[in-house]
Amino acid sequence: MHVLSVSSLKGGVGKTTVALGLASAAFAKGLRTLVVDLDPQCDATTGLGAVGVFRESCADVLENPKHSVVLRAIVPSSWTKVRPGTIDVMLGSPRTIGFDTPTPTLREVWKLEEALSRVERDYDLVIIDTPPSINALTRTAWISSDRVLIVTEPGIFSVAAADRAMRAIESLRDGLTPRLQPLGVVINRVRPNSKEHEFRIKELSDLFGPELLNVQIEEKSTIQQAQGAARAIHTWPGEQAAELSKQFDELLAGAIESFKKPMDRKSIKNHKRFSRLTRIMRGQKWSSAQLAAEPTDFEALDGLTGDSSSR
Ligand SMILES: Nc1ncnc2c1ncn2[C@@H]1O[C@H](COP(=O)(O)OP(=O)(O)OP(=O)(O)O)[C@@H](O)[C@H]1O
Ligand SMILES: [Mg+2]
Repeated sequence: MHVLSVSSLKGGVGKTTVALGLASAAFAKGLRTLVVDLDPQCDATTGLGAVGVFRESCADVLENPKHSVVLRAIVPSSWTKVRPGTIDVMLGSPRTIGFDTPTPTLREVWKLEEALSRVERDYDLVIIDTPPSINALTRTAWISSDRVLIVTEPGIFSVAAADRAMRAIESLRDGLTPRLQPLGVVINRVRPNSKEHEFRIKELSDLFGPELLNVQIEEKSTIQQAQGAARAIHTWPGEQAAELSKQFDELLAGAIESFKKPMDRKSIKNHKRFSRLTRIMRGQKWSSAQLAAEPTDFEALDGLTGDSSSR
């Protein structure tokens, strides 16, 4: 199972749209996919057609990530009514806002990792839609992720936000989770004939170099129509939807390729050290011995860089 967060430190640039587009591509490819909706606005939950009265959600999982709670917070998307397969959502909830504190404790930011370790065998890919800030929810998402995809628009404020996000990932990776790597920056809402967009894309290319992904998602009204109908873009009719589907397929292919890359030696060493320090992580069989090794002093994280030597 691989975990990918879709983030930006700016609102409205297309995080949910890209998360849903990637989920649609994964679903079309036959991957068993889970979308975790960590944004209190719950747009991904709506886009996946998971509306109704449900007892449990991400908020309950963040409170208590035990197996039964995790399973009750996950429901199938209505996308499966159109095409068979596995596409589930860990339901978003406005109550998650209560968890989005600026100074989360270590225990708090590790909750989602613990929850995902419970369903490790059930999914090939987990996509996490995050809120547009660097508070507890985004850090919780990143700590449980293998990769983060940064979404930006070709506009001046979005460029600055993408740069901030990239630095924040590096900082968290050095301090707490060596496994985490940026997948890169994807530009959304591109209008091919716009001079302003051309200028901003060049600026992004200068700033991020190879970390700026080749795939660019164009601005097309079809996206909004498919989202409004809670349908996967891959099952939406028309040429525009087919073109967009191809762009999301390419983006997914890049993510899958990136998951295959091994960690560098320093990261492996750090990963082992962190695995011992943390309680339950994906890729480990958790045992009572590990639970006993759980650190007891869950100090509040000071900024983004938790200094492991002090724990
Ligand atoms: N490529 C696109 N073409 C057309 N419309 C788009 C595109 N990308 C996003 N949108 C629209 O822009 C709006 C904002 O997109 P979205 O909700 O995905 O952004 P977000 O970054 O998740 O926002 P928030 O920060 O509020 O979570 C939505 O109405 C969405 O349908
Ligand atoms: Mg969103």
